[in-house]
Amino acid sequence: MKQVKTIFSGIKPSGDLTIGNYIGAISQWAEMQAYNNCIFSIVDYHAITVKQDPTILRRRILDITKIYLAAGIDPQKSIIFQQSTVPAHTELAWILNCLGTYMADLKKMTQFKDKAGDRQDAVSVGLFDYPVLMAADILLYDTQSVPVGEDQKQHVELARDIAKRFNNEYGPIFVIPEAVVRKEGARVMSLTDPSKKMAKSDDSANSYIALLDDIELAKKKIIKAVTDSGTDIDYDPAERPALANLLTIYAALGNRQIPRLVKDYAGKGYGEFKKDLAEVVAKFLGDFQDKFKQISDADAQAVLEQGREKAAEITQVKMEKIRAAIGVR
Ligand code: TYM
Repeated sequence: MKQVKTIFSGIKPSGDLTIGNYIGAISQWAEMQAYNNCIFSIVDYHAITVKQDPTILRRRILDITKIYLAAGIDPQKSIIFQQSTVPAHTELAWILNCLGTYMADLKKMTQFKDKAGDRQDAVSVGLFDYPVLMAADILLYDTQSVPVGEDQKQHVELARDIAKRFNNEYGPIFVIPEAVVRKEGARVMSLTDPSKKMAKSDDSANSYIALLDDIELAKKKIIKAVTDSGTDIDYDPAERPALANLLTIYAALGNRQIPRLVKDYAGKGYGEFKKDLAEVVAKFLGDFQDKFKQISDADAQAVLEQGREKAAEITQVKMEKIRAAIGVR
């Protein structure tokens, strides 16, 4: 028997979700909920660390809720909620800002350095502080496992450090969480530049496939995707990263093993491989979007309200312990 664990993860509504988000994160969640206590959030207060249009943000929060549901997250089994509707998240983030986190921790964060670039003084304080809110999200629920893509591992490591420091000072309040990343698909790469992560914020729409992309357009993006020199189909991430990325996408969305694909395409060229992959992507998106369309805004809102109630109940109890431990109650 597998041990039941508490799982927490989230996605920020800052762009159109891509097959990278699906393969690296969401597809793991649907598998995990069968035998664990799962909590999945739409982390809207993370999204506002960079400027958002309020109308679009409001729309995306509902669309991501529908994406969770279309991906098979079952609101009867798992809690699905919107971060900003549960104030304990920002309250704990403040406490952890003061007790457990150092400036030096945040200055080391790769994502901050990438996003802020050489404009560190001109970005919001929120962008800098973002990993502390993420630590609060995770620690509030006594989370044991955090299923994420590779790029979020460092943030989960920081949540561990913060939790350990806090516990050393105030007693065993927090469970120490660990990141769970897929062996393959933890870092789906851009279709136009395989040295970069596929990202919903990328300026070039050809670099990613959004879960809600027009299907014909998505097929074209696969056909246009860059490939490495060479002609045969072989899995070699170091030497042929573009092809390895396409094989990873094929395996994940087509439910096939990479070695099996390599065997099946022996003696065949890139052209045939890409044509088949375009069909696999089209089939996946078609099925996914059919499910998505069947969910109404009202359904999504009802799921979020039900989730908010459950999350509020858990976090209220936890916050009372935390407030008492630090001496504000
Ligand atoms: P976000 O919204 O950038 O991404 C959501 C999830 O998708 C994964 N992901 C990828 N996986 C594989 N390949 C890719 N190209 C790819 N792009 C994105 C991310 O690793 C992530 O798992 N800070 C988080 C959101 C967050 C969170 C949390 C996550 C806030 N609080 C608590 C877990 C627990 C973020 O910005 O993810």
